[in-house]
Amino acid sequence: MTDTVDLGPEDLLGDGEAMRIPAEQTGYPEDIALVRSEDGDYFAVDDECTHAAVSLSDGFVEEDTIECPMHASAFCLRTGVPETPPAITPVKTHHVTVENGRVILHPGVPRSEAPGQ
Ligand code: FES
Repeated sequence: MTDTVDLGPEDLLGDGEAMRIPAEQTGYPEDIALVRSEDGDYFAVDDECTHAAVSLSDGFVEEDTIECPMHASAFCLRTGVPETPPAITPVKTHHVTVENGRVILHPGVPRSEAPGQ
């Protein structure tokens, strides 16, 4: 999938906040968690925790991780890899850019495969 989705203005989220972007809005088969790190950078990962069906966007942002609200696995927003148990399987990452003051999601394009990453 190469379509991009304009999610809204750059101040859509404050630093350290997250929100769920429903699949219906993106055309991607899963809900996506849009996250703004404490440093103000945008990231996106699959919203569902790989340990159980819990929404990571309901979790807690700390530095460049998001912590699952159920059992506290912290997923790296850059790689999707869980840095703490019990989750062991990474979540997929999605490329996000800020262009002309708008947050642009590239659903299905892994962050690591995006240009300049
Ligand atoms: S449901 Fe996320 S760590 Fe258990």
